Formats: sequence, structure tokens, C-alpha cells
Amino acid sequence: MKEPVAQPVFFMRFSAIMFDMMKNNTERYILPEMRREANRASRNTASECTRFVMSAEAENLGRGKKYYIRTYGCQANVRDGETLAGILELMGFEMCESTEEADLLIFNTCAIRQAAEDRVFGEIGSLKSVKARHPGQIICLCGCMAQEEVVIEKILKSYPQVDLVFGTHNLWRLPELLLKVMSKKERTIEVYSEEGDLIEDLPVRRSTSCKGFVHIMYGCDKFCTYCIVPYTRGRERSRRKEDIIEEIMTLKQQGMKEAVLLGQNVNAYGKDLKMEDGFTSLLESCAETGIERIRFYTSHPRDYSSTTIDAMVKYPNIMRSLHLPVQSGSDEILKRMNRGYTNDSYRRLYDEMRSKISDITFTTDLIVGFPSETDEQFQATLDLVDYCQFDMAYSFVYSPRAGTPAARMEDNIPLSVKKERLQILNDRLSDIAAKRNREYVGRTLKVLCEGPSKKNENVYSGYSEENKLVNFTGPAGLKDQIIEVKITESHSFSLDGTASCE
Ligand code: SAH
Ligand code: SF4
Ligand code: F3S
Repeated sequence: MKEPVAQPVFFMRFSAIMFDMMKNNTERYILPEMRREANRASRNTASECTRFVMSAEAENLGRGKKYYIRTYGCQANVRDGETLAGILELMGFEMCESTEEADLLIFNTCAIRQAAEDRVFGEIGSLKSVKARHPGQIICLCGCMAQEEVVIEKILKSYPQVDLVFGTHNLWRLPELLLKVMSKKERTIEVYSEEGDLIEDLPVRRSTSCKGFVHIMYGCDKFCTYCIVPYTRGRERSRRKEDIIEEIMTLKQQGMKEAVLLGQNVNAYGKDLKMEDGFTSLLESCAETGIERIRFYTSHPRDYSSTTIDAMVKYPNIMRSLHLPVQSGSDEILKRMNRGYTNDSYRRLYDEMRSKISDITFTTDLIVGFPSETDEQFQATLDLVDYCQFDMAYSFVYSPRAGTPAARMEDNIPLSVKKERLQILNDRLSDIAAKRNREYVGRTLKVLCEGPSKKNENVYSGYSEENKLVNFTGPAGLKDQIIEVKITESHSFSLDGTASCE
């Protein structure tokens, strides 16, 4: 077996951090620094690409042991969880279904809102008793929360049951980190505040058999003032087109029907590689692999290019649905959020899409209760919702995140007002979604069947080309196939139907 990957550049960076660490007398830990994440001007060059290799020592470390991963947050984090599972299985670990059974428990966390963090701390807190019954159990925290100073401080102070913490930039180090924890019995915290190389050839254990998530890029450079992601995921780095295409070809060969391209801001794909209109060109190459369905998340109105919608018109295997987060309908709030577009420019984008693809499904994200949001500004959001008639939207109450610019603004909207606005917004969104879904009754949609429901094995669920959640009845054995389903009933957030082959 080959030696672990050792890039000279990595060691230089590593020793710089080690030196800081010794200066600060924080012992053997490598701790996150959000300031360093934000200060990225000096490293705005294309990332080096390195291949993953595991050391022979780590290879059998998991033999006879079980792991359990709990993943929170976005699809990018789900995809990371699949990589962690792939690495662990390469080490000989076997997956299990409960925290009680697990020798290794991984919390792959999300930091987007405070509620997500509170949940993780609650769960880790309640594991003290599980660990008392299972003393050899290893508890590990990784993902976006690990990148936050406040989280690490809290773990050091109050959560001795956590044995291992690593961040979003070094999940490929899992084998070596586990070696330290398991063989040397050292509590380990290793979180990098700079991205490092892009690591390819990481093993993966996919969580679904009909569709596969494919990172096309990592990180975010947008720095919306409320958002923690640019600090937890680092700067924008695009994977090489050939590596992405290879991953999609592998999905296709495995019989997967759908590739879901992932990035915090997919429209920025290729900027760091100095590509011209990189995302559309990548999208077209992905379509040309011939995989049956392609989707992509998330688009940002600021970098959006009209050529993307043209590609959606041209290639039938690029699904005609677009998730385009708007956050607010007020120009003042959009400015304070640093979103880089206006209510009017967003409406124009929307109009262009509808004029080119009249039946496109259009979804968004919205935040209410951003600092200083007035009733009139909230009304502007409702007006925009009425204008765009979103098929579906994720709506959130603003949650201050330590270290972001918005967290330094006065959070002056009472919680009761935030909750009231969320309720009004959700009622409006749900009425519109119900109305749009009613238009599908009587139509036949092509649904990628993800499998039978847990409650009833004669009822399947899956997503149509339009990205509508469809529950339907049909004969046995439809899992992972694209099925024609006649829609018989509609609800706000799903459709019911019957498989045409029944
Ligand atoms: N990259 C995507 C969004 C990623 S985060 C984009 O820019 O569109 C997903 C959603 O979480 C965001 O669109 C936003 O609506 C919400 N969000 C992010 N930070 C938040 C915060 N501090 N409080 C409340 N919602 C937040
Ligand atoms: Fe966060 Fe904005 Fe980046 Fe989306 S684009 S991840 S909301 S900073
Ligand atoms: Fe959450 Fe990190 Fe994704 S903060 S939304 S898991 S990028």
C-alpha cells in the first residue's frame, strides 16, 4: 500500500498553523479561525488537485466495528456524508442504524441557523449516557459547525464526550485522524481555516440508488451578510470538468438515472479556472453524457447567465426547474444583505425564464425578520411572491450567526413579529403552491421512483421532471425506474397519482 498523500504545499501550511497553535498554547489542537477564512484575497488562484490515498495502517482499523453517520443541512453536506461513509467502509467499518450499536458515531453538522446547532448540541449532550454504557464508543463532530470558533470553545468547555473534531476542508484526513484517536487514544481536533487542495478519487457510498449528488464546486465568495457558509466552506473552487464528467459517467454505468450538480452558487462554476461562461458549458457537457436527468443547485441571481436557460431549452435531459433564492423583495434589505440584485432585476430574470420555458417550475428561499425589516419591506417580499407564483419556497426566520456582518447589526425585530411574518408568508406560499399543483391533476408526469413509502409498500414516492413530489400506487418492483404517473389529486407540497403501467 502506498504512503498517505503528502503534498509539500500542505505541509508548509500545516506547519504555519502548528506554529500559531504553539504560540497560543492550545496544545495539540488545530483550531478554526473564521478571520483567516474571510481573508482570502492572497489565495485566489486555481486550487491544486490531489488524489486520495489511504495509509496501510488505517486500512483495517475499522474491521469488526460499526459506524453511524447523522448528517444535517444541505445536499452538499449529504454528499460529504456519502464520502465519509465511503472512506469508513474502505477502512473496514460497517454501517449500522442506531447510535446505541455504533462504535463510531459521526455528527456531520450544519451551521446555517442557530436552531440547527442547538439540535446537535442537544443530541451530543444526551449521548453521555450511551457512551457510559459503551465506553469504547468514539463520538466525532465534523461539517460546518466544526469550522466555527464558538462551537469549538463550547466543545472544549462542556462536551468531553466528543473525541474527534475535523472540518470541511480535511474530511479526507479521516483515516489518519481515526488512527490517532483509536490507536493512540488521543482526543483530536483538527480544523483547517484554509481550503487546501481539491482532493479527487475519494471513495463514496451513495445513499440512494437512483440519483447521485455531484459536487461541481466547493465554497462561496458571495459573503451575503447574514450567511456563515463563506466562512465554513472557504473560497469558491471548481472541480475540473473531466473529473465531474467521469463521476457522472460512473453514475450512469451504475444505472443511476439522475445527476444532481451541487455548488453553493453553481453559476460561478469555472470562474477560478478562468473559464468563460463556465457553468453553461459544463452543463452542456453533462447533458451530453446522456444520463437521463440533470438538475443543479443552487443558482444565484447575481452570476446568472441567460445561456443557462438556453441550455435548458436545448437539452431535454436538463430538467426544467430552477431554484433561484431571492431572500427578500425589498431593495433596501437586499442591499443590506449584500445580494447584488434588486427586486426589479430579479423580476426581469423571472420574466425571461417564463418567456423561454413557460412551464418551468420555479422555487426560492426567503428570509423574514432581517435586522430593521419594516412592515413595508416585508410587504415587498409578499408582492414579489405574488408576482413570481413560486411552485415552492423554503422560508426562514433570520438567525444571527457569530462572525458575520449582519450579526453586528442590531437584531431589532421582536421574535413575535418575525414569527407572525413567517406565518403570513407561509400561508401565502402554501396557497400559491396549492394553486399551481392543481394544474397538474389529470396530467401524466414522468416520475423517478425512489422506492415504496415506509408506511405502505404499495405506495411509492419520487420526483417528476418538474421536481414535484409525487406519491403514487403501482405494481411491485418500480424502485429506481422512471414511471409514467397519472395525477389524480393535488396538495400544497405533493401530488397523488397512479402508475400508468398498473
Ligand atoms: N447558496 C445558496 C443558499 C445556501 S443556504 C444561495 O445563496 O442561495 C440556504 C438558505 O438558508 C439561504 O438561501 C437562506 O435563505 C437561508 N439562510 C442562510 N443564512 C441564514 C441565516 N443566518 N438566517 C436565516 N436563514 C438563512
Ligand atoms: Fe450564503 Fe450567499 Fe453564499 Fe448562498 S450565496 S451560500 S446565501 S453567502
Ligand atoms: Fe449548512 Fe454548511 Fe450546507 S452551513 S446549509 S451544511 S454548507
